[in-house]
Amino acid sequence: MGRLRGRRRAGCRTGEMHRDLRSVIYSAVGRGPELFAAHRFELQHGRETIRYFAHARTALKHGLQSLRLEPGDAILVPDYVCDVILHPLGELGLEHRDYPLTDELAPDWNELERRVTPATRAVLMVHYFGQPHDLARFRDFCEEHDLRLVEDNAHGHAGEIDGRPLGSFGDVGISSPRKFLNTPYGGALWLDGQEVYPDDDVRLYSVSPVRQLQRRISRRFPGLNQRLKTWVRGRPPYEDPRAYREGPVEDRCADSNSAKIFEETDWSAVRARRQQAYEAWRGFAESHGLAPVYHALHPGANPWCFPAYAADSAEAEKWCAWSSRNGATVFRWPALPEERIVENGACMERWRRLLCFSTETEPPRESSI
Ligand SMILES: Cc1ncc(COP(=O)(O)O)c(C=O)c1O
Repeated sequence: MGRLRGRRRAGCRTGEMHRDLRSVIYSAVGRGPELFAAHRFELQHGRETIRYFAHARTALKHGLQSLRLEPGDAILVPDYVCDVILHPLGELGLEHRDYPLTDELAPDWNELERRVTPATRAVLMVHYFGQPHDLARFRDFCEEHDLRLVEDNAHGHAGEIDGRPLGSFGDVGISSPRKFLNTPYGGALWLDGQEVYPDDDVRLYSVSPVRQLQRRISRRFPGLNQRLKTWVRGRPPYEDPRAYREGPVEDRCADSNSAKIFEETDWSAVRARRQQAYEAWRGFAESHGLAPVYHALHPGANPWCFPAYAADSAEAEKWCAWSSRNGATVFRWPALPEERIVENGACMERWRRLLCFSTETEPPRESSI
Protein backbone atom coordinates (compact mmCIF):
# COMPACT_ATOMS: atom_id res chain seq x y z
CA MET A 1 0.00 0.00 0.00
CA GLY A 2 1.34 3.44 -0.89
CA ARG A 3 2.18 6.12 1.63
CA LEU A 4 -0.50 8.48 2.71
CA ARG A 5 -0.17 11.86 1.11
CA GLY A 6 -1.58 14.81 2.98
CA ARG A 7 -1.17 17.76 0.66
CA ARG A 8 -1.94 21.37 1.26
CA ARG A 9 -3.53 23.04 -1.68
CA ALA A 10 -5.04 26.40 -2.14
CA GLY A 11 -8.35 27.54 -3.57
CA CYS A 12 -11.02 24.98 -2.72
CA ARG A 13 -14.30 25.60 -4.54
CA THR A 14 -17.13 25.19 -2.12
CA GLY A 15 -19.73 27.48 -3.64
CA GLU A 16 -20.25 31.10 -4.53
CA MET A 17 -21.12 32.22 -1.03
CA HIS A 18 -17.94 30.80 0.48
CA ARG A 19 -15.88 32.38 -2.28
CA ASP A 20 -17.35 35.81 -1.68
CA LEU A 21 -16.93 35.50 2.05
CA ARG A 22 -13.36 34.41 1.60
CA SER A 23 -12.38 37.31 -0.60
CA VAL A 24 -13.77 39.70 2.00
CA ILE A 25 -11.73 37.99 4.72
CA TYR A 26 -8.59 37.86 2.53
CA SER A 27 -8.67 41.58 2.02
CA ALA A 28 -9.47 42.22 5.68
CA VAL A 29 -6.55 40.20 7.02
CA GLY A 30 -4.19 40.86 4.12
CA ARG A 31 -3.46 37.16 3.53
CA GLY A 32 -3.98 34.94 0.55
CA PRO A 33 -5.90 31.73 0.03
CA GLU A 34 -3.47 29.68 2.14
CA LEU A 35 -5.66 30.76 5.05
CA PHE A 36 -8.28 28.35 3.74
CA ALA A 37 -5.88 25.70 2.56
CA ALA A 38 -7.36 22.22 2.23
CA HIS A 39 -5.94 18.75 2.59
CA ARG A 40 -6.48 15.58 0.75
CA PHE A 41 -5.51 12.19 2.06
CA GLU A 42 -4.87 9.87 -0.76
CA LEU A 43 -3.19 6.51 -1.31
CA GLN A 44 -2.12 5.16 -4.66
CA HIS A 45 -1.83 1.41 -5.06
CA GLY A 46 -1.29 0.36 -8.67
CA ARG A 47 -4.43 1.41 -10.57
CA GLU A 48 -6.28 1.96 -7.36
CA THR A 49 -6.82 5.29 -5.62
CA ILE A 50 -8.12 5.50 -2.06
CA ARG A 51 -9.07 8.88 -0.68
CA TYR A 52 -10.34 9.68 2.80
CA PHE A 53 -13.31 11.98 3.16
CA ALA A 54 -15.10 12.93 6.36
CA HIS A 55 -18.03 10.59 5.64
CA ALA A 56 -18.65 7.61 3.38
CA ARG A 57 -21.62 9.50 1.87
CA THR A 58 -19.23 12.23 0.69
CA ALA A 59 -16.97 9.53 -0.74
CA LEU A 60 -20.02 8.17 -2.57
CA LYS A 61 -20.79 11.58 -4.01
CA HIS A 62 -17.27 11.95 -5.38
CA GLY A 63 -17.32 8.35 -6.61
CA LEU A 64 -20.52 8.89 -8.59
CA GLN A 65 -19.09 12.05 -10.08
CA SER A 66 -15.91 10.17 -10.99
CA LEU A 67 -18.10 7.73 -12.94
CA ARG A 68 -19.40 10.81 -14.78
CA LEU A 69 -23.03 10.13 -13.91
CA GLU A 70 -25.21 13.04 -15.00
CA PRO A 71 -28.39 14.58 -13.57
CA GLY A 72 -31.34 12.45 -14.67
CA ASP A 73 -29.30 9.23 -14.80
CA ALA A 74 -30.77 6.43 -12.70
CA ILE A 75 -29.08 4.22 -10.13
CA LEU A 76 -30.56 1.05 -8.60
CA VAL A 77 -30.41 1.09 -4.80
CA PRO A 78 -31.56 -1.57 -2.29
CA ASP A 79 -34.82 -0.57 -0.59
CA TYR A 80 -33.30 -1.30 2.83
CA VAL A 81 -30.70 1.45 3.28
CA CYS A 82 -30.17 4.46 5.48
CA ASP A 83 -31.55 7.76 4.48
CA VAL A 84 -28.10 9.40 4.26
CA ILE A 85 -27.10 7.29 1.25
CA LEU A 86 -29.77 9.08 -0.74
CA HIS A 87 -28.43 12.55 0.13
CA PRO A 88 -25.56 12.53 -2.40
CA LEU A 89 -27.87 11.08 -5.08
CA GLY A 90 -30.30 13.96 -4.57
CA GLU A 91 -27.50 16.51 -4.52
CA LEU A 92 -26.27 15.22 -7.90
CA GLY A 93 -29.77 15.11 -9.42
CA LEU A 94 -29.67 11.31 -9.88
CA GLU A 95 -32.84 9.24 -9.92
CA HIS A 96 -32.82 6.23 -7.64
CA ARG A 97 -34.92 3.14 -8.16
CA ASP A 98 -35.25 0.78 -5.22
CA TYR A 99 -34.88 -2.97 -5.45
CA PRO A 100 -36.20 -5.39 -2.78
CA LEU A 101 -34.14 -7.81 -0.70
CA THR A 102 -34.57 -11.27 0.76
CA ASP A 103 -34.29 -11.97 4.51
CA GLU A 104 -30.54 -12.58 3.98
CA LEU A 105 -30.40 -9.05 2.53
CA ALA A 106 -29.52 -10.35 -0.94
CA PRO A 107 -31.31 -8.88 -3.95
CA ASP A 108 -34.41 -10.42 -5.39
CA TRP A 109 -32.64 -10.80 -8.75
CA ASN A 110 -35.83 -10.98 -10.84
CA GLU A 111 -37.07 -7.73 -9.33
CA LEU A 112 -33.68 -6.13 -9.80
CA GLU A 113 -33.77 -7.08 -13.48
CA ARG A 114 -37.24 -5.62 -13.87
CA ARG A 115 -36.08 -2.24 -12.59
CA VAL A 116 -33.47 -1.63 -15.30
CA THR A 117 -34.57 1.11 -17.71
CA PRO A 118 -32.74 2.93 -20.52
CA ALA A 119 -31.84 5.68 -17.99
CA THR A 120 -30.16 3.20 -15.59
CA ARG A 121 -26.42 3.68 -15.40
CA ALA A 122 -25.35 1.99 -12.16
CA VAL A 123 -26.24 -0.45 -9.36
CA LEU A 124 -25.37 0.11 -5.73
CA MET A 125 -24.77 -3.05 -3.70
CA VAL A 126 -24.21 -3.21 0.06
CA HIS A 127 -22.10 -5.67 2.05
CA TYR A 128 -24.55 -5.51 4.95
CA PHE A 129 -22.93 -5.51 8.38
CA GLY A 130 -19.59 -6.41 6.76
CA GLN A 131 -20.72 -9.73 5.28
CA PRO A 132 -19.50 -9.89 1.64
CA HIS A 133 -22.40 -10.26 -0.79
CA ASP A 134 -22.41 -11.95 -4.18
CA LEU A 135 -19.88 -9.80 -6.04
CA ALA A 136 -19.52 -12.18 -8.98
CA ARG A 137 -23.25 -12.14 -9.65
CA PHE A 138 -23.41 -8.35 -9.34
CA ARG A 139 -20.49 -8.01 -11.75
CA ASP A 140 -22.19 -10.34 -14.28
CA PHE A 141 -25.44 -8.42 -13.90
CA CYS A 142 -23.66 -5.13 -14.56
CA GLU A 143 -21.85 -6.50 -17.58
CA GLU A 144 -25.05 -7.89 -19.04
CA HIS A 145 -26.86 -4.54 -18.68
CA ASP A 146 -23.85 -2.26 -19.28
CA LEU A 147 -24.04 -0.74 -15.80
CA ARG A 148 -21.39 0.48 -13.37
CA LEU A 149 -21.07 -1.30 -10.03
CA VAL A 150 -20.95 0.84 -6.87
CA GLU A 151 -19.77 -1.27 -3.94
CA ASP A 152 -20.88 0.00 -0.55
CA ASN A 153 -18.71 -1.48 2.17
CA ALA A 154 -19.55 1.10 4.84
CA HIS A 155 -20.13 -1.74 7.34
CA GLY A 156 -16.99 -3.74 6.62
CA HIS A 157 -13.87 -1.61 6.10
CA ALA A 158 -10.79 -3.89 5.84
CA GLY A 159 -12.87 -6.95 5.07
CA GLU A 160 -11.44 -8.98 2.21
CA ILE A 161 -12.01 -11.86 -0.19
CA ASP A 162 -8.92 -13.97 -0.93
CA GLY A 163 -6.70 -11.15 0.30
CA ARG A 164 -8.32 -8.48 -1.89
CA PRO A 165 -10.03 -5.67 0.06
CA LEU A 166 -13.79 -5.28 -0.12
CA GLY A 167 -14.53 -1.95 -1.70
CA SER A 168 -12.02 -2.58 -4.48
CA PHE A 169 -14.23 -4.90 -6.57
CA GLY A 170 -16.68 -2.34 -7.94
CA ASP A 171 -16.06 0.41 -10.47
CA VAL A 172 -16.28 2.56 -7.38
CA GLY A 173 -16.28 1.53 -3.72
CA ILE A 174 -16.86 3.24 -0.39
CA SER A 175 -16.18 2.32 3.21
CA SER A 176 -16.49 4.00 6.59
CA PRO A 177 -13.43 3.24 8.75
CA ARG A 178 -14.62 5.69 11.41
CA LYS A 179 -17.35 3.20 12.34
CA PHE A 180 -14.66 0.76 13.50
CA LEU A 181 -12.26 3.05 15.31
CA ASN A 182 -14.51 5.71 16.82
CA THR A 183 -12.57 8.46 15.08
CA PRO A 184 -14.35 11.79 14.62
CA TYR A 185 -14.42 11.40 10.83
CA GLY A 186 -13.43 9.04 8.05
CA GLY A 187 -15.11 7.66 4.93
CA ALA A 188 -13.00 6.12 2.15
CA LEU A 189 -13.47 6.25 -1.60
CA TRP A 190 -11.96 3.48 -3.72
CA LEU A 191 -11.51 4.13 -7.40
CA ASP A 192 -10.43 1.59 -9.97
CA GLY A 193 -8.31 3.52 -12.43
CA GLN A 194 -10.43 6.69 -12.63
CA GLU A 195 -9.29 10.06 -11.37
CA VAL A 196 -11.17 11.51 -8.40
CA TYR A 197 -13.64 13.98 -9.88
CA PRO A 198 -14.08 16.80 -9.29
CA ASP A 199 -10.46 17.14 -8.27
CA ASP A 200 -11.13 20.21 -6.18
CA ASP A 201 -9.82 20.27 -2.70
CA VAL A 202 -12.38 19.50 -0.08
CA ARG A 203 -11.95 21.33 3.18
CA LEU A 204 -10.89 19.64 6.38
CA TYR A 205 -13.14 19.30 9.36
CA SER A 206 -11.42 20.70 12.37
CA VAL A 207 -12.08 18.67 15.49
CA SER A 208 -12.27 20.31 18.90
CA PRO A 209 -9.90 18.99 21.60
CA VAL A 210 -12.95 17.95 23.67
CA ARG A 211 -14.28 15.80 20.83
CA GLN A 212 -10.81 14.32 20.22
CA LEU A 213 -10.61 13.39 23.90
CA GLN A 214 -14.13 11.96 23.93
CA ARG A 215 -13.33 9.77 20.90
CA ARG A 216 -10.03 8.67 22.37
CA ILE A 217 -11.81 7.53 25.54
CA SER A 218 -14.45 5.67 23.57
CA ARG A 219 -11.72 3.94 21.52
CA ARG A 220 -10.02 2.85 24.72
CA PHE A 221 -13.15 1.87 26.71
CA PRO A 222 -15.96 0.97 24.30
CA GLY A 223 -18.38 -0.44 26.91
CA LEU A 224 -17.92 2.61 29.13
CA ASN A 225 -18.90 4.83 26.22
CA GLN A 226 -22.28 3.12 25.97
CA ARG A 227 -22.93 3.40 29.70
CA LEU A 228 -22.01 7.11 29.68
CA LYS A 229 -24.31 7.76 26.73
CA THR A 230 -27.23 6.15 28.53
CA TRP A 231 -26.40 8.02 31.72
CA VAL A 232 -26.21 11.42 29.95
CA ARG A 233 -29.04 11.02 27.44
CA GLY A 234 -31.38 8.66 29.27
CA ARG A 235 -33.34 5.90 27.59
CA PRO A 236 -32.78 5.94 23.82
CA PRO A 237 -35.98 6.18 21.72
CA TYR A 238 -35.77 2.59 20.41
CA GLU A 239 -39.24 2.53 18.95
CA ASP A 240 -38.92 5.71 16.88
CA PRO A 241 -37.69 4.99 13.31
CA ARG A 242 -36.96 8.70 12.82
CA ALA A 243 -34.93 9.15 16.01
CA TYR A 244 -31.50 8.93 14.38
CA ARG A 245 -32.31 10.81 11.20
CA GLU A 246 -29.38 12.97 10.06
CA GLY A 247 -29.41 16.14 8.00
CA PRO A 248 -27.13 16.71 5.00
CA VAL A 249 -23.42 17.12 5.74
CA GLU A 250 -20.89 19.39 4.05
CA ASP A 251 -18.44 17.87 1.59
CA ARG A 252 -15.26 17.64 3.63
CA CYS A 253 -12.23 15.42 3.81
CA ALA A 254 -11.23 13.54 6.97
CA ASP A 255 -9.39 15.34 9.72
CA SER A 256 -5.65 14.64 9.67
CA ASN A 257 -5.66 12.82 12.99
CA SER A 258 -8.32 10.32 11.84
CA ALA A 259 -6.51 9.70 8.54
CA LYS A 260 -3.30 9.00 10.44
CA ILE A 261 -5.08 6.56 12.77
CA PHE A 262 -6.50 4.64 9.78
CA GLU A 263 -3.04 4.23 8.32
CA GLU A 264 -1.43 3.17 11.59
CA THR A 265 -4.10 0.67 12.58
CA ASP A 266 -3.40 -3.05 12.44
CA TRP A 267 -6.56 -3.90 10.54
CA SER A 268 -6.01 -7.65 10.58
CA ALA A 269 -6.04 -7.50 14.41
CA VAL A 270 -9.25 -5.43 14.28
CA ARG A 271 -10.78 -8.00 11.92
CA ALA A 272 -9.82 -10.91 14.19
CA ARG A 273 -11.30 -9.17 17.26
CA ARG A 274 -14.52 -8.28 15.45
CA GLN A 275 -14.92 -11.82 14.12
CA GLN A 276 -14.44 -13.23 17.61
CA ALA A 277 -17.06 -10.85 19.01
CA TYR A 278 -19.41 -11.76 16.14
CA GLU A 279 -19.18 -15.45 16.99
CA ALA A 280 -19.68 -14.72 20.69
CA TRP A 281 -22.82 -12.72 19.89
CA ARG A 282 -24.02 -15.50 17.60
CA GLY A 283 -23.83 -17.98 20.51
CA PHE A 284 -25.54 -15.48 22.81
CA ALA A 285 -28.32 -14.66 20.31
CA GLU A 286 -29.03 -18.27 19.42
CA SER A 287 -29.21 -19.24 23.07
CA HIS A 288 -31.88 -16.54 23.48
CA GLY A 289 -34.00 -17.63 20.53
CA LEU A 290 -32.93 -14.94 18.04
CA ALA A 291 -32.40 -15.87 14.36
CA PRO A 292 -29.07 -14.82 12.78
CA VAL A 293 -29.43 -13.06 9.41
CA TYR A 294 -26.49 -15.04 7.95
CA HIS A 295 -25.95 -18.73 8.50
CA ALA A 296 -22.14 -18.29 8.49
CA LEU A 297 -19.74 -15.35 8.58
CA HIS A 298 -17.39 -15.08 5.59
CA PRO A 299 -13.78 -15.79 6.78
CA GLY A 300 -12.51 -12.47 5.37
CA ALA A 301 -15.30 -10.32 6.81
CA ASN A 302 -14.69 -7.45 9.21
CA PRO A 303 -18.19 -7.31 10.71
CA TRP A 304 -19.40 -3.98 12.09
CA CYS A 305 -22.04 -5.90 14.03
CA PHE A 306 -23.84 -9.21 14.37
CA PRO A 307 -27.35 -9.00 12.84
CA ALA A 308 -30.27 -11.16 14.01
CA TYR A 309 -34.05 -11.15 13.77
CA ALA A 310 -36.26 -10.97 16.85
CA ALA A 311 -39.70 -12.60 16.71
CA ASP A 312 -41.46 -9.22 16.80
CA SER A 313 -41.05 -5.56 17.61
CA ALA A 314 -41.68 -5.98 21.35
CA GLU A 315 -38.89 -8.54 21.62
CA ALA A 316 -36.52 -6.28 19.64
CA GLU A 317 -37.26 -3.39 22.00
CA LYS A 318 -36.62 -5.64 24.97
CA TRP A 319 -33.07 -6.32 23.68
CA CYS A 320 -32.39 -2.65 23.02
CA ALA A 321 -33.40 -1.86 26.60
CA TRP A 322 -31.27 -4.74 27.85
CA SER A 323 -28.22 -3.34 26.09
CA SER A 324 -28.51 0.06 27.79
CA ARG A 325 -28.55 -1.63 31.20
CA ASN A 326 -25.66 -3.95 30.42
CA GLY A 327 -23.06 -1.77 28.68
CA ALA A 328 -23.46 -3.44 25.28
CA THR A 329 -24.57 -1.73 22.08
CA VAL A 330 -27.65 -3.25 20.49
CA PHE A 331 -29.50 -1.09 18.01
CA ARG A 332 -31.95 -1.03 15.15
CA TRP A 333 -30.67 -0.13 11.71
CA PRO A 334 -31.13 1.90 9.54
CA ALA A 335 -32.74 5.34 9.79
CA LEU A 336 -34.90 4.48 6.77
CA PRO A 337 -35.86 7.04 4.12
CA GLU A 338 -39.16 8.77 4.99
CA GLU A 339 -41.02 7.17 2.07
CA ARG A 340 -40.23 3.68 3.42
CA ILE A 341 -41.50 4.62 6.88
CA VAL A 342 -44.69 6.16 5.55
CA GLU A 343 -45.52 3.24 3.24
CA ASN A 344 -45.18 0.97 6.32
CA GLY A 345 -44.53 -2.14 4.19
CA ALA A 346 -41.89 -4.90 4.10
CA CYS A 347 -39.00 -2.56 5.00
CA MET A 348 -40.65 -1.31 8.16
CA GLU A 349 -41.60 -4.88 9.01
CA ARG A 350 -37.92 -5.82 8.73
CA TRP A 351 -36.83 -2.74 10.69
CA ARG A 352 -39.06 -3.70 13.61
CA ARG A 353 -37.43 -7.13 13.96
CA LEU A 354 -33.81 -6.59 12.88
CA LEU A 355 -31.30 -6.16 15.71
CA CYS A 356 -27.63 -5.25 15.42
CA PHE A 357 -25.23 -6.35 18.18
CA SER A 358 -22.12 -4.18 17.95
CA THR A 359 -18.92 -6.23 17.62
CA GLU A 360 -17.05 -3.48 19.41
CA THR A 361 -17.63 -5.51 22.54
CA GLU A 362 -18.46 -9.14 23.31
CA PRO A 363 -21.59 -10.11 25.28
CA PRO A 364 -21.24 -9.26 28.97
CA ARG A 365 -20.35 -12.25 31.15
CA GLU A 366 -23.24 -11.60 33.45
CA SER A 367 -26.31 -9.69 32.57
CA SER A 368 -29.81 -9.05 33.80
CA ILE A 369 -32.36 -10.02 31.14
C1 LIG B 1 -24.78 1.00 4.12
C2 LIG B 1 -24.28 2.39 4.42
N1 LIG B 1 -23.65 3.07 3.44
C3 LIG B 1 -23.17 4.31 3.65
C4 LIG B 1 -23.32 4.93 4.87
C5 LIG B 1 -22.78 6.31 5.08
O1 LIG B 1 -21.66 6.26 5.94
P1 LIG B 1 -21.19 7.61 6.64
O2 LIG B 1 -22.03 7.74 7.86
O3 LIG B 1 -19.73 7.43 6.94
O4 LIG B 1 -21.44 8.69 5.66
C6 LIG B 1 -23.96 4.27 5.91
C7 LIG B 1 -24.13 4.92 7.21
O5 LIG B 1 -24.42 4.32 8.22
C8 LIG B 1 -24.46 2.97 5.69
O6 LIG B 1 -25.10 2.29 6.66
